[in-house]
Amino acid sequence: MRSILRSVGFITIATTLATVSATPSPLHLDLAARYEENIFPRLPTFSKREAAAEPQLSEEDERVLRRALERRDFTFIDQDQVLNEYDYIIAGGGLAGLVLASRLSEDSSRRVLVLEAGLSGDAVKDRVDAPAGAYYESIVGTDYDWKHNTEKQPMLNNRGIYWPRGKILGGSTAMNAMYLVRPSQIDVDSWQSLLESAQDIDVSGSASRWSWNNLFAAMKKSENFTAPEAEPWEIGGRFPYDAANHGSGGPMSLSYPQVMFSIVGNWTSALATAGISTLQNPNGGVTMGGFISPSSINPTNRTRSYSRPAYIDSLPPRSNLHILPEATVTKIGFTDKLRSSTNEIIAHSVEFAKDSASTRYVVGVNREVILAGGPLGSPKILMHSGVGPTDVLQQIGLDVVYELPGVGQHLQDHLTAGVAWESRVETAGDVRASNSDFSKSSEFLSFINDAVAFVNASLLFNGNDAVYGTEIANMLANGTTTVPSTSPEVIEGYKAVYNLTVQNLWPGSAQIEMLMSVISPGSISIQSALQHPYSRGRVYINSTNPFDPIVIDPQYFSHPADRTIMRQGVKLVRLVGAALGDRVGTETTPGPDVQTDDQIDAWLTNSGANTQYHPASACAMLPRKWGGVVDSDLKVYGLANVRVVDSSVYPFEFAAHLASATYGLAEIGSGIVKESTFEVPSGAKVDEKELGRQGKNEAVGRGVSRVVVGGVVAAVLALLA
Ligand SMILES: Cc1cc2nc3c(=O)[nH]c(=O)nc-3n(C[C@H](O)[C@H](O)[C@H](O)COP(=O)(O)OP(=O)(O)OC[C@H]3O[C@@H](n4cnc5c(N)ncnc54)[C@H](O)[C@@H]3O)c2cc1C
Ligand SMILES: *[C@@H]1O[C@H](CO)[C@@H](O)[C@H](O)[C@H]1NC(C)=O
Ligand SMILES: *[C@@H]1O[C@H](CO)[C@@H](O)[C@H](O)[C@H]1NC(C)=O
Ligand SMILES: *[C@@H]1O[C@H](CO)[C@@H](O)[C@H](O)[C@H]1NC(C)=O
Ligand SMILES: *[C@@H]1O[C@H](CO)[C@@H](O)[C@H](O)[C@H]1NC(C)=O
Ligand SMILES: *[C@@H]1O[C@H](CO)[C@@H](O)[C@H](O)[C@H]1NC(C)=O
Ligand SMILES: *[C@@H]1O[C@H](CO)[C@@H](O)[C@H](O)[C@H]1NC(C)=O
Ligand SMILES: *[C@@H]1O[C@H](CO)[C@@H](O)[C@H](O)[C@H]1NC(C)=O
Repeated sequence: MRSILRSVGFITIATTLATVSATPSPLHLDLAARYEENIFPRLPTFSKREAAAEPQLSEEDERVLRRALERRDFTFIDQDQVLNEYDYIIAGGGLAGLVLASRLSEDSSRRVLVLEAGLSGDAVKDRVDAPAGAYYESIVGTDYDWKHNTEKQPMLNNRGIYWPRGKILGGSTAMNAMYLVRPSQIDVDSWQSLLESAQDIDVSGSASRWSWNNLFAAMKKSENFTAPEAEPWEIGGRFPYDAANHGSGGPMSLSYPQVMFSIVGNWTSALATAGISTLQNPNGGVTMGGFISPSSINPTNRTRSYSRPAYIDSLPPRSNLHILPEATVTKIGFTDKLRSSTNEIIAHSVEFAKDSASTRYVVGVNREVILAGGPLGSPKILMHSGVGPTDVLQQIGLDVVYELPGVGQHLQDHLTAGVAWESRVETAGDVRASNSDFSKSSEFLSFINDAVAFVNASLLFNGNDAVYGTEIANMLANGTTTVPSTSPEVIEGYKAVYNLTVQNLWPGSAQIEMLMSVISPGSISIQSALQHPYSRGRVYINSTNPFDPIVIDPQYFSHPADRTIMRQGVKLVRLVGAALGDRVGTETTPGPDVQTDDQIDAWLTNSGANTQYHPASACAMLPRKWGGVVDSDLKVYGLANVRVVDSSVYPFEFAAHLASATYGLAEIGSGIVKESTFEVPSGAKVDEKELGRQGKNEAVGRGVSRVVVGGVVAAVLALLA
């Protein structure tokens, strides 16, 4: 184990340790069993009580009920408690899905259902909660992970790349590395200007929603920032931070680890030696420079503040919000009627099932279906619903409900590669390996990597950035041949984003992120992560079974500039490593033998380059003529009442980790949904016979008892108030 741990950074650690610690403790199993069997009060019980003349609760009943309320069992329902219809149905209870659930259910007259494919996560709460659990007890590789693999990548020596994604309430925020790093103003404003530059705007004219100013305010709205404690801040080299760049009083907690290692305090001075200045004002619109990033840590109990505790567990009970885990959305149901004012297709229902062998359920929708399945889940649901590229759908014999060639296209990801050295100072990994009492304390377990830097092309190319930028611009003609679509729209969209990337983002934005990792015993690594890739891939389905995995082909390094930029990043990372001086020893990965450009390229290709876990853009917010999937109101083209609100809509990668922007996006998206007045017309509603459990005799008549059930929930709440 030790030798594996020593070799690389976070990627190997997370997967390796997840495998060894995948078995939950007996306590966890016990909690899990109680959750699965649902021994907590069930609605039929309430129903009987209400029928009695005098509802009398025994002390024990009342205790159990109170506990149920604390556990929010009225929110976390089971399959039999699903109502016949909801105003909003949210597909996916991850980062964005739970923000939407919380915001949309603020209006108690609206009924909201979240369908989440994964388990609740209650059985692994401790592992998820501990920040350092992200490395040492990661849920990566367990049943709480989708465990995707990409197609073999020709330019990565035919390696398939492992893509973990959270399959749990909270989604990938329950397993991520908790860096809270915003995109820069230039990245976000470029998004807005891209939409505006489309001129014959079929993006309904509201591009200004995606300005830096608007997104900055929305990101802040999600936050409750707490400054670092004095001692870790001293040890960390009195790193700059600015509370004014953060929100306070918002749902998601944001702070710093409560232990620090001196090597973290050496980060910015080592960067300075390599020519990289310290960013005095992180997360305020400028990304360039080195800094200590805040993390999504709740400082009051040193826990991970992910979307579930932040947006759901903190709520008072809301009987109009239902969250159902273990419910995979298999498709959206559409009427054969069009919305008369726009000729758009109306969604009237959502189908879901626990697994491939289980009965499918159908739930009716009054207002909107909101896809929040993440960068793979949302395009997948659209395709299984018959919305996507015709060739993909016809290949497997699915009826095309609406042709949208961009669904699954424009796929991008950040690639990263870590250079590692023997360490000569204490690391968090050393503490962990010591197995001391301190290593088990919540204080130590609040530690998470946070030393980062964003660098520009001018530093990476020694001032020759303009020359190489022109070269990249000239490569556009060749680049379009690698776009994995024959759709002229998708190719036009690629060109537009390419031009923007080379014109705006090459001179003005960061090209490489560096991340120092100190979580392995005896080892320190620094990653070089590509931020604005020119390669484009796609995701698609090759089976009509929605439980078969989506096919992922990111086409890593299909554009040669990506590898060149990463290689320059590796060289710069080595300069920073050298500047750490006697605090590091021999380079262990890739090692002193790898020196020339060809050798570095071969290392990146054969083993060095791996995902930074930031796939995006497979439901891009672009004009339809550019292969877009959603307009600037996040609404899917051609569909009257289906939106995508998650990290799949960014038209290009930001130089940033994606969680902060996605919290902001989901806050803005919630506002858009609330403003919309669309209701499914009565003539377009799903036929009652099609509701509920399908393929069995029980479908008819379910509706009546459900409505009563809703009333009983309210009655019980009142009783206990
Ligand atoms: C290992 C890892 C480390 C990361 N580290 C960081 C970091 O340090 N900082 C950072 O900012 N970002 C990080 N990220 C990225 C960040 O977590 C994601 O960008 C963010 O969670 C995306 O939010 P989302 O709502 O789009 O998707 P998710 O949060 O992934 O949520 C999607 C949800 O939809 C569910 N779902 C999918 N399909 C269906 C379906 N058909 N039916 C029902 N439910 C469905 C999924 O189970 C999941 O719960 C990391 C990601 C990973 C995987
Ligand atoms: C850097 O490293 C040295 C040696 O480990 C240490 O004495 C010093 O305090 C560190 N911190 C800073 C901020 O330079
Ligand atoms: C914000 O964080 C502080 C700790 O810094 C805490 O006391 C406060 O309760 C938090 N506010 C909310 C709304 O969570
Ligand atoms: C690139 O970054 C360096 C170091 O942070 C800075 O001095 C320089 O001005 C930047 N160049 C451009 C073109 O922004
Ligand atoms: C930590 O506190 C938050 C709210 O402040 C809460 O939601 C969460 O459940 C707590 N975690 C633990 C393990 O107590
Ligand atoms: C485009 O590809 C051709 C064939 O591989 C190559 O000869 C040419 O140099 C490329 N052009 C640019 C600008 O990269
Ligand atoms: C490329 O971008 C520049 C600057 O943003 C713009 O002026 C130009 O019109 C664009 N060219 C194309 C072909 O889109
Ligand atoms: C779909 O693609 C995957 C991944 O390449 C492959 O394993 C699987 O066999 C394919 N399924 C069909 C039905 O072609």
